[in-house]
Amino acid sequence: MDIVWPIVIRGTGANVPERVVTNQYFVERLDTSDEWIRTRTGIERRHWAAPDKATSDHAAEACRLALDNAGMTIDDIDAIICATATGDHMFPATACLVQHKLGATDIPAFDIGAACAGFMYACAVAAGLISAGGNKNILVVGAETLSRFADPEDRATSILFGDGAGAAVWSRSPDPERGVIYHEWGVDGSKADLIWAPAGGSRYPTSETTIAERLQFLHMRGREVFKFAVIRMQELIDRALERLNLSPDDLKMMIPHQSNMRIIQSMRERMGLPKEKVVLNIDEYGNTSAASIPLALDAARRAGQLEEGDLVLLIGIGAGMTWSIIVLRL
Ligand code: UT7
Repeated sequence: MDIVWPIVIRGTGANVPERVVTNQYFVERLDTSDEWIRTRTGIERRHWAAPDKATSDHAAEACRLALDNAGMTIDDIDAIICATATGDHMFPATACLVQHKLGATDIPAFDIGAACAGFMYACAVAAGLISAGGNKNILVVGAETLSRFADPEDRATSILFGDGAGAAVWSRSPDPERGVIYHEWGVDGSKADLIWAPAGGSRYPTSETTIAERLQFLHMRGREVFKFAVIRMQELIDRALERLNLSPDDLKMMIPHQSNMRIIQSMRERMGLPKEKVVLNIDEYGNTSAASIPLALDAARRAGQLEEGDLVLLIGIGAGMTWSIIVLRL
């Protein structure tokens, strides 16, 4: 199988806030039920950041753990890419804050905004940079504090999101048989308002009106996003497997973005994959956007479910609408 990008994951790390918010929290505040949330989304709990913590705090901690896991220090890293839709500030990039927290002084650090597909986008950029030469090791982190952007009065969205960060160190592959074997990404910008936080940017700067209309919060047309995600994920997976001449059985594991258990289950059943081959964390963390795939990846690696040489499929769909699929031989 041809290697598209000769890069491998050297280490991973994850960090989630300690505070656990159960479905009961919402039952006490909104017209909802534990049963509705569990059956419609698969979410049982989510972790929310402490008042004094923001995205860069969890991102930096996940990065530290990923460096430890890789047996590296920040001095070994050539660049930091942070995927987030909920950075600490409008600017500078959250990656700059992460760079400082990690004790680096001059390596490049920048953000990627591709929402729930953000970690995948960041991995693709890291892969391209390493493959082009000049960069040996790149730290990629997906990190979010969505609890600050979900409208606490909106039962359709507030129940969905959690905070956290997952990181991976990508390095040049030491083995010609290991690396990324397939990649596809894209955007349908005509659907940008299916999930968005309308105000606070240059289009609708924060004002009394935007606040009164709650436009600083995330707004989502859930059912349309659901349909889009199911159809696009199926297309992406079918095309990848066909082009690679693989069957789902050849995969050691699939790590999908965790937005809804029903979306993941429908993909799993359609592919005929057993439960053990699909990493899930939505029950514990909710939808953590750019953090969901690296959190799941780290959990699978630390549980010993993934070994060198295994074929793994990562897939994410997010606001934009963005999408990305990567198949790699670990
Ligand atoms: O991560 C980026 C990608 N994001 C996604 O992929 C999210 C995709 N969308 C979804 O996961 C689902 O659309 C949701 C979980 C957001 C919603 O589930 P749904 O089955 O699509 O529900 P719906 O929006 O069609 O609403 C069905 C009903 C509505 O009531 P009526 O109009 O039928 O009376 C909603 O008002 O469920 C109601 N509802 C709720 N009821 C109890 C919406 N939220 C709640 C709630 N508790 N929390």
